[in-house]
Amino acid sequence: MQNLVLNQSVRLNNGVEMPVFGLGVWKTRSGKECVDAVLSALELGYRHIDTAKIYGNESDVGEAIRKSGVPRNELFITTKLWNSDQKDPRKYLEESLKTIGVDQIDLYLIHFPVAGTRKQAWKELEKAYKDGLARAIGVSNYTIPHLQELFQYAEITPAVNQVEYHPFLNQNDLLNTCKKNNIVLEAYSPLAHGQRISDPKLAKIAKKYGKTPAQILIRWAIDKGMVVIPKSVKRERILENSQVFDFSLSGSDLQEMETWNENFRTCWDPTGA
Ligand SMILES: NC(=O)c1ccc[n+]([C@@H]2O[C@H](COP(=O)([O-])OP(=O)(O)OC[C@H]3O[C@@H](n4cnc5c(N)ncnc54)[C@H](OP(=O)(O)O)[C@@H]3O)[C@@H](O)[C@H]2O)c1
Repeated sequence: MQNLVLNQSVRLNNGVEMPVFGLGVWKTRSGKECVDAVLSALELGYRHIDTAKIYGNESDVGEAIRKSGVPRNELFITTKLWNSDQKDPRKYLEESLKTIGVDQIDLYLIHFPVAGTRKQAWKELEKAYKDGLARAIGVSNYTIPHLQELFQYAEITPAVNQVEYHPFLNQNDLLNTCKKNNIVLEAYSPLAHGQRISDPKLAKIAKKYGKTPAQILIRWAIDKGMVVIPKSVKRERILENSQVFDFSLSGSDLQEMETWNENFRTCWDPTGA
């Protein structure tokens, strides 16, 4: 099957094109596991990789990129500012660039809205963006109150808010707030970290489309207008997860999946942070 992954992107609020689909590498072990996963993804047509300093595998992402031979300007790489580094974002962004081996990052995110330092961190990110260290800047794990607070002091609206999002944690109010403010919502843990892959409701829909549960969850995120970054270290799953551009979910199936929300979180909860 022709892999159409490359053809789909969303235009961020500053005009930068971001692929709607990419590979996440949280918990992908540094070394051979991460290099092989990223290399497989790039060979299979992925052009978007999501890492973070705290994942400890930025250098492996860089190594895989160099091994792949894919030109830098065809790639979209995201990394993130770790919580304890929020007092000096530029220093840590420069460190990440060096570790990955690139001159500029495509997207740099505040990893988590740490009380006390998130405002200063955003103002510093704005400066780094203006100086060309990142093609776009954004936030992660921001709830509606965090965004509202940021709007009071931000000169630049975040291009992206990366949050946990899947049918079992369907945060429509947050999605609508992001859309209204021209912020792309990027769904992390779109497979609910693998914990709901055997859900019978999901199996039923998957059977109907001749697709796998993972493919339904990924397509659901895309059909709702989000960017999505499933993680796998297995080449066959990396391929499977990318084969979601030859179908879309019907209105009635999308509607049914809207009823699955359980506020089921697999990752950290930023509420009240
Ligand atoms: N900003 C943040 O705070 C934050 C937090 C969490 C995640 N993220 C980002 O989002 C990415 C994705 O989230 P995630 O890693 O938490 O979880 P995920 O993508 O929802 O799920 C990954 C899990 O599902 C398994 N899996 C992958 N493809 C599968 C398939 N086709 N069928 C069955 N199981 C499959 C993986 O196992 P195998 O690897 O063994 O295949 C792994 O255990 C992360 O890697 C990271 O880049 C960001």
